[in-house]
Amino acid sequence: MFAKAQIEGLAKAGNGDLALLIRQQTNNKGIISILENLGYLPSTFDATPLLELVKNTSPKVRTLAVKNLAKLGKLEFLEVYWRAFQQESDTTTRREIVSAIGRLRKPQNKPYLFQTLEDNDPKVVCQAIRGLLFYEKDDSVSRRLKPLMDHPNEMVRNIIHKEYFAEKIARKPTAPHPDSPVRLKNVVVNGDVRDVLKYVDDESIHLTFTSPPYYNARDYSIYPSYEAYLDFLAEVFLETHRITKEGRFLILNTSPIIIPRVSRSHSSKRYPIPFDIHPRLTEMGWEFIDDIIWVKPEYSVKNRVGGFMQHRKPLGYKPNTLTEYVMVYRKQTSRLLDWNIRSYPSDIVEQSKVKGEYETTNVWKIDPKFDKGHSAVFPVELCDRVIQYYSYKGDLVFDPFGGSGTVGRTAKLLDRYFFLTEMEPEYFEYMQMKVRNPPLLDESFPSRFLSLDEFMKEKTK
Ligand SMILES: C[S@@+](CC[C@H](N)C(=O)[O-])C[C@H]1O[C@@H](n2cnc3c(N)ncnc32)[C@H](O)[C@@H]1O
Repeated sequence: MFAKAQIEGLAKAGNGDLALLIRQQTNNKGIISILENLGYLPSTFDATPLLELVKNTSPKVRTLAVKNLAKLGKLEFLEVYWRAFQQESDTTTRREIVSAIGRLRKPQNKPYLFQTLEDNDPKVVCQAIRGLLFYEKDDSVSRRLKPLMDHPNEMVRNIIHKEYFAEKIARKPTAPHPDSPVRLKNVVVNGDVRDVLKYVDDESIHLTFTSPPYYNARDYSIYPSYEAYLDFLAEVFLETHRITKEGRFLILNTSPIIIPRVSRSHSSKRYPIPFDIHPRLTEMGWEFIDDIIWVKPEYSVKNRVGGFMQHRKPLGYKPNTLTEYVMVYRKQTSRLLDWNIRSYPSDIVEQSKVKGEYETTNVWKIDPKFDKGHSAVFPVELCDRVIQYYSYKGDLVFDPFGGSGTVGRTAKLLDRYFFLTEMEPEYFEYMQMKVRNPPLLDESFPSRFLSLDEFMKEKTK
């Protein structure tokens, strides 16, 4: 409605023309447009019209009025803010007011911020904390903030943990972030992943991408119960957490599975694996980042809807399942992703950039892969995307359930190193042919296929 330059010009002039323009507005739309375009405000700016708008009937106008008043940083508005806060019911405006109080950055604002620490809205509490963190060396502030480590809300706890506790307990990384142990580079071990990982040091790998054995869905995965199966996965991913570098990713491909009925007088049972493993992962320190849905073409999946097509009776509807989950988790840390990225030399960052077309949504349409040597292999395209989007060149990519070795082969083609474990000798054999082909261009780390015994001995040497 109004041009930014026009409004900024009036604001800078500070001669009351802006107040006149605001008063001339017959509806809030015009006022909002003015407030959104105010930009920088000089200290000579006449704040009277903004102070009036703090009482406007529209919460949007009130929020924008407070936001603009805060730019002036005037201590004399403290009481105005506080009165407005006490009468305010709109959550966004309340947060904006607390932010304005915080931005005053004068000790007089402390008692007001202390009071808002008691608020019911966690976002208001977080805003008050932000304002108080300006006084980081002030003991009276630390005494009020540290106990919020036990606050019922996780956002509040996270800020306090990061500010007061995280740095103190953060372990120094054992090696530079881009590095990984030489003895794991391009290695496949034939053994139960739980045994193999006992011989792998903390913080060795950069990325895990895996598809675990399905619960009793195929002959290689027989577990005494569903609970035992989930416990097994939890054990593997807890160890994976230990060997993962700070702030790096675990990408887990699973989907609900069906155990067919034993006879016509029984029903089949569906197990929601991704949903049941999720709480265990977050509890052990994997932070949930994204849920990517892998969609397959309908012709490629089992036909479940055929019966319904005939009878059309409600309750008997069973859709064809085209999707699998690709769940993205990050090893919990108080450090931002930027910290991870900055730990690489700039040439590696440049070379690792994802070039050309890339997937913009969390729905990935990829054809499944059928393989004569293994019954559940990753399509190369899926591996390719995950490795490109979640690792840097020279990183070490781990797959605890190596199967036919798709992760190894793809990692190699993308100039990453791989470390795989596979329990079944038959697949271990099959993988040797697949992973070796095509050969590595850089033979400084040739692919090595070791028994558990050989791997153990290398560690104890
Ligand atoms: C779903 S498949 C993985 C296929 C793989 N993503 C590929 O592209 O070929 C799971 C693999 O995990 C292996 N496996 C099952 N339990 C294991 C364990 N405890 N340790 C290591 N491998 C295991 C199975 O033998 C199977 O090959």
